Amino acid sequence: MSYYTYRTPDSYNKTAPRSVFYTTLVKKMKVLVATEKPFAKVAVDGIRKEIEAAGYQLALLEKYTSKDQLKEAVADADALIIRSDIVDAEVLDAARQLKIVVRAGAGYDNIDLAAATARNVVAMNTPGQNSNAVAELALGLMVYAVRNFYNGTSGTELMGKTLGIHAFGNVGRNVARIAKGFGMNVIAFDAYCPDEAMTAAGVTPVHSAEELYAQADIVSLHIPATPETRQSINYALVSRMPKGGILVNTARKEVINEDELICLMQERTDIRYVTDIMPASDQKMQELFAGRYFSTPKKMGAQTAEANINAGIAAARQIVDYFLNGNERFRVNK
Ligand code: 3PG
Repeated sequence: MSYYTYRTPDSYNKTAPRSVFYTTLVKKMKVLVATEKPFAKVAVDGIRKEIEAAGYQLALLEKYTSKDQLKEAVADADALIIRSDIVDAEVLDAARQLKIVVRAGAGYDNIDLAAATARNVVAMNTPGQNSNAVAELALGLMVYAVRNFYNGTSGTELMGKTLGIHAFGNVGRNVARIAKGFGMNVIAFDAYCPDEAMTAAGVTPVHSAEELYAQADIVSLHIPATPETRQSINYALVSRMPKGGILVNTARKEVINEDELICLMQERTDIRYVTDIMPASDQKMQELFAGRYFSTPKKMGAQTAEANINAGIAAARQIVDYFLNGNERFRVNK
């Protein structure tokens, strides 16, 4: 075991849990970065710098292919940085020393929050750190769709079209900013966001999802996967879209009712679906909707050096700040 250079207990915030004081003072904290889809190397270098500057050690588990590998790697970790990696009760049980898990990104539906709370593990995300990258990809998917997937035929332009943003969080706001640069008319629906925040961004608020879909030539999804939103993008909603409607998904596949979307796209041969999260029925959709359906092979929205650096380093800093100061600002399992 390697020992931590002595620092006076006064340098630690008294609100941090007892186990944190003990571990920080007695042994070197181990921070595991476990990413089935790895960060760019430059981001890992940045994370390492933060972790080592705090006197902790960094361990890496990249491109792992089984839960057992994750369970083995996390067994002696005090802190864990993940992306879309699944941290469920089984993984948490294997992580006997774990005090904090940080999802380097926005959506934390991959962490069993109740199981983390039950085991006194703090769970955090890093909101906003990768949102520009996801927004740029959403606009890229829109261009790809209106230009007929670059098949050589004449497409249409985004300028002058109405874009409906479904949820006006960090990604939705970035999508609005970029879409306005394209000359789009931007409307948005978000039950949790005041109208003023939208109007200040030059976006027209609408007050129901039904209204949004009825008015938008293109809808861009930015809702999280929650019990409330699961399968909520269904036949009734998407069928409201005008002729030639395009649905863009850079959020989560779980929010789509795939059976109903397939049914609608069979009836409405004008509707197109482009997604960054491969549906469970990808094969079927490819066969049925050639030229109207596209999915990236692997979720690519946050896969930029910048997003990896921003989210990865934010995660590392949040861990250090939690251990040293007990800062729980980005905690999601309160
Ligand atoms: C997020 O929730 O932050 C995005 O979906 C990006 O996820 P990723 O880190 O797995 O690419």
